[in-house]
Amino acid sequence: MYEHDVIVVGAGGAGLRAAIAAHEAGADTAIVSKLHPVRSHTGAAEGGINAALREGDDWELHAYDTMKGSDYLADAPAAETLAQDAPEETIQLEHWGMPFSREDDGRVSQRPFGGLSFPRTTYAGAETGHHLLHVMYEQVVKRGIQVYDEWYVMNLVTDDAADPNDRECHGVVAYDVQSGNVEGFKANGGVILATGGPGQAFDHTTNAVSCTGDGHAMAYRAGAPLEDMEFIQFHPTSLPSTGVLISEGVRGEGGILYNAKGERFMFEYGYANNSGELASRDVVARAELTEVNEGRGVNDEYVHLDMRHLGEERILDRLENILHLAEDFEGVDGLVEPMPVKPGQHYAMGGIDVDENGQTCINGLYAAGESACVSVHGGNRLGGNALPELIVFGKRAGRHAAGDDLGTAEIETGYGPDVEDETETELPVQPGSAGLDTAGGVAADGSGVATETDGLIERAVEAERTRVDHLMDKDDGVQHAQIRAKLQKAMTDYVNVFRTDEGIRKALRVIRECREEYQDVYVDDPSRTFNTDLQQTYETRNLIDVAETIALGALVRNEFRGAHWRQENQERDDENWLKHTLISWEDGDPNIFYRPVILEGEKTYEPKVRSY
Ligand code: FUM
Repeated sequence: MYEHDVIVVGAGGAGLRAAIAAHEAGADTAIVSKLHPVRSHTGAAEGGINAALREGDDWELHAYDTMKGSDYLADAPAAETLAQDAPEETIQLEHWGMPFSREDDGRVSQRPFGGLSFPRTTYAGAETGHHLLHVMYEQVVKRGIQVYDEWYVMNLVTDDAADPNDRECHGVVAYDVQSGNVEGFKANGGVILATGGPGQAFDHTTNAVSCTGDGHAMAYRAGAPLEDMEFIQFHPTSLPSTGVLISEGVRGEGGILYNAKGERFMFEYGYANNSGELASRDVVARAELTEVNEGRGVNDEYVHLDMRHLGEERILDRLENILHLAEDFEGVDGLVEPMPVKPGQHYAMGGIDVDENGQTCINGLYAAGESACVSVHGGNRLGGNALPELIVFGKRAGRHAAGDDLGTAEIETGYGPDVEDETETELPVQPGSAGLDTAGGVAADGSGVATETDGLIERAVEAERTRVDHLMDKDDGVQHAQIRAKLQKAMTDYVNVFRTDEGIRKALRVIRECREEYQDVYVDDPSRTFNTDLQQTYETRNLIDVAETIALGALVRNEFRGAHWRQENQERDDENWLKHTLISWEDGDPNIFYRPVILEGEKTYEPKVRSY
C-alpha cells in the first residue's frame, strides 16, 4: 500500500495546481493519474484565461459577466472568488514561464470572448491549455511531487457511516496500467478528485477519450451529491467530422459565422443583435442549429466560420493552431476558405457538489476543476472561465486538504438545507440499480462504501481485484464498446442542445437498458498489461451513472435556463427554479433534491433578462 498526506486524482490543470498548493502548504503530496500529466485534456484548451488585468476592467465586472452568463444559477461567493483570484493566479503562471501572447509594448495580450463586457481573455496563441499544463508540470517536477502516472483510480475508500455527511474518505484503489497490479493508496489528509468532465457520454464532443466522468461517478457512488448535471455546454464551433474544437478565439479575433445563403445569421435573424458571434455559447449554439433546422445549414449539417479577412499575418500570429486543425481534420485551408463548424458537447457546468474550499460533504474528499461544481458556471459557462477555475479552485482545494485555514465556506454541500420538491416528475423507468442483480460486484451499482473501518483499504483493494478477475474470467457476454456506443448515441440524440420531455425519457430508457446490459459485460483482452479494454470497461460503468444524472436533471428541470432548453418550457422560471438540482446515490437509487442559488456575495446579482 502507498501512503501520502494528500492524494490528487488526475493531472490536468486543477490536479497539478492542487498538488503544487498542497505541497507548498507542507503536505506529502502525490498525484495518481490514468494519463501522463501532459497528456491530460486541459492540453486541448485553446482559447484562454479570463482575468481582470487591465485598467478599465475589474473583478466586479468579471463577476457580473459570470453571473449573467450563468443565467443566474452560479453561486455569487464562487463567482466573486473566481474573479478576485484570477489575476494573481494568472500572473503566477506568467512568473512560472507561461508563454502568453503579447502586445508590441510587451504587455500580455487579452482578447474578447463571448459574453464578456471587456476583452479579458489572456491566451498563448490558440494552445493556452497545452502551455499551462507544461508550465505547471515543470513546477511539479521541480518540487519533487510524486506522480503515479498511468495508474487508473477504480474507486474511493470511504467508511460506512449511514449519513454521507458523516462519512470519511481514507484513500483510493488504483490499477497500474503497466503491470496490471491493483493497489491501495492511503490518504492521511485528503483525496482531491480532479478528473475532468464526462464528455464521452456524448458521441459528438470536443473532449478526449479520457473524459469519462470517473471522479463524478466515484464520488456519487460514495455518497457525495452531483449538482446541476443537466447543464451541458455545447461549443458552437467544433469540426463536424471529429468534434475537434475550433477556438472561440477565432470569433474573438473577428471571425464571422455564415449560413448556407452567405448570411451573417447572428445579426440577420436577430439571435444576438449587440454581440453577434460573441454572444454567449448557449445562444450561438442554438442559433446555428436553428439555421440548420430551418434549411439554411451547409449540407444540412453545419455553418461556416470565416477568418480569411483577418489576414495571414494575424492568423499565423494568434491562431496558427486553428489552421492546422482545420487542415488536418477537415482538409480545409482556413486562409483561403471558410471552416465548417457545428455545436459539439464541450463542458459540464455541473459536477461534484463542493464548497469554495473544494470540500464535498464527505470528510477528506475534495473535488476541483470540471469534475466539481462549486458552482461558478451555473447554467452556462463563459468561454475563458474554465482555466481560471482550475487554477483558483485547484489551489484552494490543495491548500485546504493540506490543512491551511481558508475560513468558513459560504456555500453549503451535502444534504441541506434543501428546498421542498414541488416539481415532482414521474420517471419513465426506475433509474439506478434497484431490482438489478449486482452479483459479482460487476454491475454499474457499486458504492465504494465499506462496512468497517479497520482494514478498509485492504478490503477495498480485494473487492476491486475480485471485480477485475470476474471481468477477465468471463468468456463471453457484452463488450463495453457496444454499450458505450448506444449510450453516446442516445445522449446525443435526446439530451443535446434542443431537448424535449419525450426525448429525455427515451434517453433514460436507453440508459436503463445499458445498465442492464452491463450486468453481462466481459473483457475480451486477456492481457494484464496495458489492457485498455479493462480500463474502458470501468470507464463505461462511470459513464452510465453520470449520463443518468444528466438526463434525470434535464427531465426534472422543466424550464429554459442557460444551456438547458426545453421545448415544452421555453421561459426561464425564476419563481420555481432559482435552485440547484442535486442528485445523490442512496442504496442503489438516485435521489433528487434542491438547494437555493446564492445571488448575494459582496455584490447582489438581481436576475435580469439575459440578452446579448
Ligand atoms: O473556444 C475555446 O477556445 C474554448 C475555451 C473554453 O472553453 O474556455
